[in-house]
Amino acid sequence: MELLLGLTGGKRGLLALLLILGALLHLLLALAGGAEAWGHHGAVGGAVGVPERRYRDLAAGRMASVRSSFGAAAAASARRGLATASASRVYHVTDYGADPTGATDATAAIKKAIADAFSLPSNATMTGGIPDLGGAEVHLDGGTYLVNGPLTLPASGGGNFKIHSGSLRASAEFPTDRYLIELSAGSSSGYHYEFVTLRDLMLDCSYRGGGVTVVDSLRTSIDNLYVTHFGTDGIAVRGGHETYIRNTFLGQHMTAGTDPGERSFTGTGIRLDGNDNSVSDVVVFSAGTGIMVTGGANTISGVHCYNKAAGFGGTGIYLKVPGLTQTWLTNCYMDYTSIVAEDPVLLHVSGSFFLGDANVVLKAVNGVARGVQITGNLFNGRGKGVDIVQLDGAFKTVEQVYVQQNSAMGMNVKATAARGSVDGNGTSWTVDFASVLLFPDRIGHVQYSLVSGDEFPGHTLRNVSGNQVVVATDKAVSATVHVLVDQNSN
Ligand SMILES: *[C@@H]1O[C@H](CO)[C@@H](O)[C@H](O)[C@H]1NC(C)=O
Ligand SMILES: *[C@@H]1O[C@H](CO)[C@@H](O)[C@H](O)[C@H]1NC(C)=O
Ligand SMILES: *[C@@H]1O[C@H](CO)[C@@H](O)[C@H](O)[C@H]1NC(C)=O
Repeated sequence: MELLLGLTGGKRGLLALLLILGALLHLLLALAGGAEAWGHHGAVGGAVGVPERRYRDLAAGRMASVRSSFGAAAAASARRGLATASASRVYHVTDYGADPTGATDATAAIKKAIADAFSLPSNATMTGGIPDLGGAEVHLDGGTYLVNGPLTLPASGGGNFKIHSGSLRASAEFPTDRYLIELSAGSSSGYHYEFVTLRDLMLDCSYRGGGVTVVDSLRTSIDNLYVTHFGTDGIAVRGGHETYIRNTFLGQHMTAGTDPGERSFTGTGIRLDGNDNSVSDVVVFSAGTGIMVTGGANTISGVHCYNKAAGFGGTGIYLKVPGLTQTWLTNCYMDYTSIVAEDPVLLHVSGSFFLGDANVVLKAVNGVARGVQITGNLFNGRGKGVDIVQLDGAFKTVEQVYVQQNSAMGMNVKATAARGSVDGNGTSWTVDFASVLLFPDRIGHVQYSLVSGDEFPGHTLRNVSGNQVVVATDKAVSATVHVLVDQNSN
C-alpha cells in the first residue's frame, strides 16, 4: 500500500492496469482449469455443498464420540460407519471412542485406530517389502489420552504413516519397562517400519517406562515432541537406520534449571543404540544422561543439555562407542553438563558453547585416541581450575588428535599444540608446556629458534621429557628461545 501511494500518477495508472489484467488472467485460468480444482477447494471455502457437509458430519460424529466416551459406547457402530464411508486415510482416535479428556483408559481405542490405519490401501511396498500404508495418519485430535499399556505398532510392519497432534499419559498401571509408543515387532529380524512420523506430541510417562522406542526401523521422523516424567528413556533407538529426532524437548522433571531435586535426576533423554541417526535442535532439561550414544555414524547438532550437572554426577552427552566412535557434534550448548567419550576414534566437536565448567572428558578404555578434533569451541567456567578437555585414564595410542583453537574464561585451556618462549642468560633454556598440553609426557614434534643478539653460540634441543622442552648452548649467552610443540608426531 505504501508503495502504491508513493508512486507518481503515471506509474500508478500502469500498475492498476497490470492488476486488472492479472485478475482477468486468474479468472480465465480458473474457468479453464475445470470444476475439479474448485470442487476440491470447496470443502474449505464452502462453494460446493457436499464436501462441506461431509466435513460437518464427521466433526459431529467426532463430537458424539467425545460425548459417548463419558457414558455409553452405543455410537461405536455408527462411528465405524463414518470412518469407512470416508475414503480418507486420517483415523481420528475420538471416532474410535478414545476419551480426549484423559479421564479413562484409551489404549484399546487408539490401538484400533492404528490397526485400521495399518489395513492396506494397495499392494505397494517399501524397502524390503514393508507394506506402504499410503500416508495414513492417526490423528489425536488435540486430546490427552490415558494409556494403561504401550501403543505398539502392528508386528506386520508398515511405512508411510503418521501419529500426531495430541498428548498421551501413562496410567499408574503402565509397565515400567515399556514405552508409550513402540515401533517394535518383537524379536523378529529385519526392518519392519519405514518413514513413520511422530509429530506434535506431548508424552507424559508418569515416571513409568519411556516415551518412544524405535527398533529396526528405517527413516523415522520424530518432530516436535515434549517427553516428560520418563523413568527409563525419553526416546530410545535400537538398530535400524536414520531416525531423525528434531525440535524436541525432553526432561524427566519439568524444570527450567536450579531444581532442588537435581541430584536425584535419573533416566536418559535420548538413547541411540544404532547407526546413521541425527539429533538436532533438541533440549534435554532434566535426566541423569542427556544423550547416550552406543552406535556409530550419528550426528548431533544444536543440542542444549542442562539435564543434570556434571558436578552432581550427570552427563550431557555420553559417547560409549570405544574404538570406533564416528560421531560429530556441532553447535551444541553444554550447560553445566559435559561430553564424555570413551576411547574416541573419529570424533569431532566444534562450534559449541560450554558453560559452568562443562567440558569434554576423554575416558580411556583401551587407551586409544585417534582422529579426534575438538576445535573452535567456547568455554566459560567458574575459576575453579577445571580443564576444558580432561583425560580420565591413560592413553597409550594418540594419533591425529587435534585439540586446538578453543577459547576459555575461568577454565584451563588444554591443547595438543602450543607455543611458548623463555628469556635467559646461561647455557640452558626450559619452556614448560606441562600445564597446557593435554597428554602427559608426549611431544611428537618440536620447532625452536634461539635469538641471542650478536652472539653465535652452538645450540641444540636437549630434552622434551615431561612436556618440558630444554635447549642448550655450548657457551653462556643471553638469549630468548621460542618453541612450538605438537603432541602428534605425524
Ligand atoms: C493385491 O494383490 C492381490 C494378489 O495379487 C490381488 O488379489 C489384489 O487385488 C491386490 N489388491 C490391490 C488393491 O491391488
Ligand atoms: C649474562 O651473564 C654474564 C656473565 O655472568 C654477564 O656478564 C652479563 O651481563 C649477563 N647478561 C644479562 C643480560 O644478564
Ligand atoms: C631428560 O630429562 C629427564 C628428566 O629430567 C631425564 O630423566 C632424562 O634422562 C633426560 N634425557 C636426556 C636424553 O637427557
